[in-house]
Amino acid sequence: MSNHSGHGHRHGRQDLHHERPAHGHDHGGAEPDWDVMAPLLERNAELSSAQYTEAARWIAALPTAPKVSRVLDIGAGPGVVACLLAEVFPDAEVVAVDGTPALLERTRERARRLGLDDRVTTLHATLPEGLPGLGEADLIWAGNTLHHMGDQRAALAGFGELLRPGGTVALVEGGLQVRQLPRDLGFGNPGLEARMEAAEAELFQRMRAELPDARREVEDWAALFGAAGLTPQGTRSFLLDLPAPLGDAAREQVVADFTRRRDGLRDHLDTDDTAVLDRLLDPEDPAGLHRRPDVFLLLARTLHLGRRA
Ligand SMILES: C[S@@+](CC[C@H](N)C(=O)[O-])C[C@H]1O[C@@H](n2cnc3c(N)ncnc32)[C@H](O)[C@@H]1O
Repeated sequence: MSNHSGHGHRHGRQDLHHERPAHGHDHGGAEPDWDVMAPLLERNAELSSAQYTEAARWIAALPTAPKVSRVLDIGAGPGVVACLLAEVFPDAEVVAVDGTPALLERTRERARRLGLDDRVTTLHATLPEGLPGLGEADLIWAGNTLHHMGDQRAALAGFGELLRPGGTVALVEGGLQVRQLPRDLGFGNPGLEARMEAAEAELFQRMRAELPDARREVEDWAALFGAAGLTPQGTRSFLLDLPAPLGDAAREQVVADFTRRRDGLRDHLDTDDTAVLDRLLDPEDPAGLHRRPDVFLLLARTLHLGRRA
């Protein structure tokens, strides 16, 4: 299958905490450079491990839950969630599917490290073209991935075709934009993060418009499940709520997030805001992200389930 990573994307969409316009951190309107984003994606998912585990346990405990013997994690990225799924579904083989070979390598390393390599395997595929080669599954997890496909309706229908009877599609889409700083930082114009979010929503829209077979869609996931012949099974949001003061890993992630977003937004914010971002990223500045005590990490991810009869 072809290599999705070779599109020559100029900027990475910053999916530090999510990948939706509401919380994605787009850069230049192009698709992300996933290789470059690997460490960010990995730490991002690690910080949300408890939420992802809770989400997977919710699926496992549904009264209609099928016996899960094969899971496809579509757009698995660095494999953090694939490994969590293997832990929550101990009888399942989990196949991490992605278009970026370097991320699949991270998945294999992680699976080896966790002693899960007998059940977590990888498959290089560009989607949706590669869907027919993925084989059947009882659970298809697509975390912040469907919106990277131009025709989301068709891709979802393709997921549905891979499901065994009683199987579930789990989409992580939507949620709430990450917030990491007080509205008023004590310098610059209050409301910086809201302006960053607005600029990123615009870039996200451009990114989507440039995808192959791009098609605008009402992002009503229950309706799209219905159109794909699946029965909506519920929606839940999972909160990552790390209050200030942050531990080292979370603070490093916030710094990495802002670094990437500053680079992507430089031409899309006014000069006052870009100057504030520069100051926030100065490691020596006591009011910067490295040192200020009031940095936090708050976001919600939403999981939408659809079931095949
Ligand atoms: C935002 S990341 C999400 C990673 C992971 N699911 C998570 O939530 O942490 C999106 C992933 O989808 C993959 N991807 C994006 N578009 C793809 C496509 N058309 N075919 C295959 N993989 C794709 C990227 O390589 C990347 O690893």
